[in-house]
Amino acid sequence: MPHVEVTVSTRVDDDLRACLLDLWTDVTNAGGAVGFVAPVTRDVVAPVLDGLVERVHGGTQALCVLRVDGEPAGFAVLSTSVSPLRRHWATVLRVQVHPSRQGQGLGRVLMAGVHDAARARGLEFLHLTVRGGYGLEGFYERLGYEVFGRMPGAIRVAPGDDRDEVLLLCRL
Ligand SMILES: CC(C)(COP(=O)(O)OP(=O)(O)OC[C@H]1O[C@@H](n2cnc3c(N)ncnc32)[C@H](O)[C@@H]1OP(=O)(O)O)[C@@H](O)C(=O)NCCC(=O)NCCS
Repeated sequence: MPHVEVTVSTRVDDDLRACLLDLWTDVTNAGGAVGFVAPVTRDVVAPVLDGLVERVHGGTQALCVLRVDGEPAGFAVLSTSVSPLRRHWATVLRVQVHPSRQGQGLGRVLMAGVHDAARARGLEFLHLTVRGGYGLEGFYERLGYEVFGRMPGAIRVAPGDDRDEVLLLCRL
């Protein structure tokens, strides 16, 4: 049995950055809805990843890394607000599992790790959005999330292909 764990990284070294870059690129090119539209190259993903790394190092975002036998196999980001009025909840971003490992229960393990990290920070609920038309609401509803809104046509996947942004919330 492989050893599966979710760790929270506050520092991203060069090795971890390279793994995250491969992951994010591969997930997107396999059709994942994580901020880009396929096809992408590492050059396109790299500056967005570097922005994320900067926020992790600055402490405004927490990086939850799913590891299988020590190797990164997925990740998600917990993003907290700088507003003192919004410190009791966070937004979950970039949830992804490598295409070679999807459909094996690892997404569920990753999200359980995100929820543990959120509870450890004293958060009361989590918010996230998904791109409509991918069936992703089903994944999150199984984990206790509820749809509370929808922004029609918020995501332009391609000219003439606008998708709704679906808003979900999970009480911890
Ligand atoms: C979405 C994602 C993280 C799920 O991870 P995964 O490891 O494939 O999911 P799991 O195997 O843990 O599935 C957990 C449950 O959710 C269901 N599920 C998984 N993906 C689903 C989807 N796209 N739509 C509906 N249900 C889904 C599974 O059937 C399973 O149900 P069960 O518990 O009744 O058996 C993964 O498929 C992924 O990385 N996708 C590409 C990136 C992406 O689009 N991320 C979403 C950003 S909002």
